Amino acid sequence: MDKAFAVRTQEEMLDVLMTPESSGPDVHYFMIRGGSEKKNITIWQAGLVGEEYIKTYGHYHVSDFIETYTVLAGEGIILLQNRKINEKGILIDDEVEEARAIFVKAGSVVQIPKNAGHLAVNTGESWLVTSDDSPVNLNKMNEAAWPVHADYEPVRKLHGFAYYVVKKNGKPFFIKNENYKNVPEIIIENA
Ligand SMILES: [Fe+2]
Repeated sequence: MDKAFAVRTQEEMLDVLMTPESSGPDVHYFMIRGGSEKKNITIWQAGLVGEEYIKTYGHYHVSDFIETYTVLAGEGIILLQNRKINEKGILIDDEVEEARAIFVKAGSVVQIPKNAGHLAVNTGESWLVTSDDSPVNLNKMNEAAWPVHADYEPVRKLHGFAYYVVKKNGKPFFIKNENYKNVPEIIIENA
C-alpha cells in the first residue's frame, strides 16, 4: 500500500463515538496525504453510526500552523472548539471556552485557527471530500494516519468533542458530550 494512503476504521473510531455499541461502516474515512504542496484529500462515508453522522476523529493543533480546508464535494459541518486555560497557563481538556459549528458545502473554504480543535461531519447523502494543506512527513511512522501537528489524546479520553452531531427529524442536531464539565452553547455559522 502506498505510504500516502490511510483509512480510519470503525474500530479506531470507537473511543470517540457517541454510541460505540452501534454498528457503522468498516471504514469511516479515507485519506491521501500530499502535504502543503500537493495537499491532502479526505473522503468521508455518508451515513450514521447510531444517530451520529460519520465524522473525523478530531484533534487539537499543537503548533501555530493555520490549516486551510477547502470542500471539494458534498456537504457537512466543521466543528471547532477551544479549551479554557487555567491561571497557570495550562489547557483544561474538559472545559471548553468556545464551540462553533460551521456548515459547509462544495466550494467552502475554512481556516482552522491556531490551537483549535477541529473535526468534520458528513451530513450529506454522498461522499464529503475536502482538500487541506497540513504538512506531512511520510518517512515518519503512521504519519499519513496521525499527522504530527495534532494532539488526539484529549479527544480520545473525553470520547469525542464537546458536541456530537446527530440526525434528528432529518437534520443536524447538536448533543452535548456529558464527559465535559463546562460547555458553552454552540455557535452556528455558515461558511
Ligand atoms: Fe488539523
